[in-house]
Amino acid sequence: MDADAVHDRVKKVCIVGASGKLGQYMVRHALDRGYEVVGVCRERSVPKLAAFADRITVVPGQTNDREVIRRAVDGCDGVLTVLVPWGVRQYSSGTAQAVLDYAKPGARLVFSCGWHITRDGKDKYSRAFTTLLRIAAWVGKAVRAVEIDDQVEACRRVFASDTRWTVVRGSDLEEGESQGLPVWRRHVGDPVLSGNLTRRVDFALFMVEALTDDTLVREAPAIVGRLTPGVLAASA
Ligand SMILES: NC(=O)c1ccc[n+]([C@@H]2O[C@H](COP(=O)([O-])OP(=O)(O)OC[C@H]3O[C@@H](n4cnc5c(N)ncnc54)[C@H](OP(=O)(O)O)[C@@H]3O)[C@@H](O)[C@H]2O)c1
Repeated sequence: MDADAVHDRVKKVCIVGASGKLGQYMVRHALDRGYEVVGVCRERSVPKLAAFADRITVVPGQTNDREVIRRAVDGCDGVLTVLVPWGVRQYSSGTAQAVLDYAKPGARLVFSCGWHITRDGKDKYSRAFTTLLRIAAWVGKAVRAVEIDDQVEACRRVFASDTRWTVVRGSDLEEGESQGLPVWRRHVGDPVLSGNLTRRVDFALFMVEALTDDTLVREAPAIVGRLTPGVLAASA
């Protein structure tokens, strides 16, 4: 299929987790591309989307509520899902499963997570990264605030599905003006990714661009900002 045909295929998109920082950037990018946008967020967070109120449809509710997701993704050609591990209640896996079950056949499904997710076990992490992750996972679960294992389970289900998925794995994030589309590699540990920093606005850009980039179907790109030292060194 040629590039124009791929772009024409996406007209309506659902953004699950639209009220968060990443979500709001994705709403902006999607509207800039002329997509019809449906956003899902918790009832109490609807006011965060006030700036877009007359331009998007909001479906309020928990993102792991299957009925909420079923209604929100109806007729959508693409679904952008912010996977977050909050609470100890299978929030990530419940959200991912509902999207996998209810998105229309053939829709592009793009999920966000971090570098800690590995698809094939070939990512190479520093000892500091692994230690910090273990501590965060243990403490998060002990105080019942964060369930990183469940974000892992969510991605395992996505990887196993026969849908047209992409799992975008973000580096550390920062705010700031766009620097352009991030660069990606298949595995963490690649020297190009060594800068470990991406502007959140550009993470969102990558997610939205992935909707029409068929080379990313069934890939789990690890991304990094295009002005980070590893990228600049590789291009020099
Ligand atoms: N933060 C990082 O450094 C980092 C690094 C790499 C990858 N990532 C990935 O980037 C994505 C976005 O993360 P972010 O940190 O930048 O945050 P974010 O975009 O602000 O998103 C946080 C999301 O979590 C929701 N949320 C917050 N508390 C919640 C709760 N108690 N119950 C249910 N939902 C709750 C928020 O919804 P409300 O608007 O309703 O609060 C929002 O949709 C995630 O997939 C994350 O894994 C983050």
